[in-house]
Amino acid sequence: MILLGLNIDHCATLRQARYRSAALTVGGAVEPDPVTFALLAERAGADGITVHLREDRRHIQERDVWRLRESIATRLNLEMSCTPAMTRFALKLRPDSVCLVPENRAEITTEGGLDVISHRRRVAKCVDAMTAAGIATSLFIDPEPAQIQLSAELGAPWIELHTGAYAEAYFIARKRAKEFTRLREGATRACGLGLIVNAGHGINYVNIAELRTLPRLHELNIGHSIVSRAIFTGLEEAVREMKTKMNP
Ligand code: PXP
Repeated sequence: MILLGLNIDHCATLRQARYRSAALTVGGAVEPDPVTFALLAERAGADGITVHLREDRRHIQERDVWRLRESIATRLNLEMSCTPAMTRFALKLRPDSVCLVPENRAEITTEGGLDVISHRRRVAKCVDAMTAAGIATSLFIDPEPAQIQLSAELGAPWIELHTGAYAEAYFIARKRAKEFTRLREGATRACGLGLIVNAGHGINYVNIAELRTLPRLHELNIGHSIVSRAIFTGLEEAVREMKTKMNP
C-alpha cells in the first residue's frame, strides 16, 4: 500500500493571489483556507499533509503551519530549506517529519534535488538536530547513487526521490525510459541501504500508472495535480481517484 502525502501549498497560492496583505486580518472571509482543505483531504483518505514554508512566504504562512499542527489528525510533513532559521522553526513546531529541499528565490517551484554532497555539513547538522528531537528527516534528492549513499551515511531515515525529470520527459519515450530506470535503480539502491523511499514532484493522474511500479515505495508526495483536479471534481473525489490509481 503506497501512502499519499498531499501537498497543499497551491491552496495557499490561490488564497495569496487575492489576500496577500489581508491574510492575517480578515478572518473567515479569506479563502480558500489551507487548513480546511487539509481536513477535507484527510477525510477523503490522504495519509499525511505536506507544506513547504518558503523563505519568501509566497504561499504557506507560518500561521497556517501552526494551525495545521493543532488540527490535522494524520501526519504533518514540513518541507523546508536547510537553514539555521528553518531548523529553529521546525524544532519549535515539531512536525512529524521534515523534508529538506533546495530553495532558490527565483524558481517557480522546487527545481532540482538537494545537493547533499555540496552541503554535507549543513545537511548533517540539520538531520542530527531533527533526529535528537524525534523528528524524521527526509532528503529530497535526485536519483544519483552518490547522493543516495551519502544520505544513508548522514543517518537520514528517509529520502524522497525527485520525479520531476521523469515527469517532464513523460512524452519523450526514450528519455522517459532512461529517467524511469534511474528512479528504479535509485529506489532499489536506497532500500538496500536501509532507507525508506518516498517520491514526489510532477506526479499526476497519468504518470502515476508507471511511477507506482517503482520498487519499495513508501509514500508519494503530490500537490499540483490533485489541487488542480479538485477545481473540477471537488477535493474528496480528486484525492480518492489518485489513491485508487496509486493502489489499484
Ligand atoms: N515533493 C517536494 C519535495 C516538492 O518540493 C514538491 C513541490 O512543492 C512536491 C513534492 C509536490 O510536487 P507537485 O506539486 O508537482 O505534485
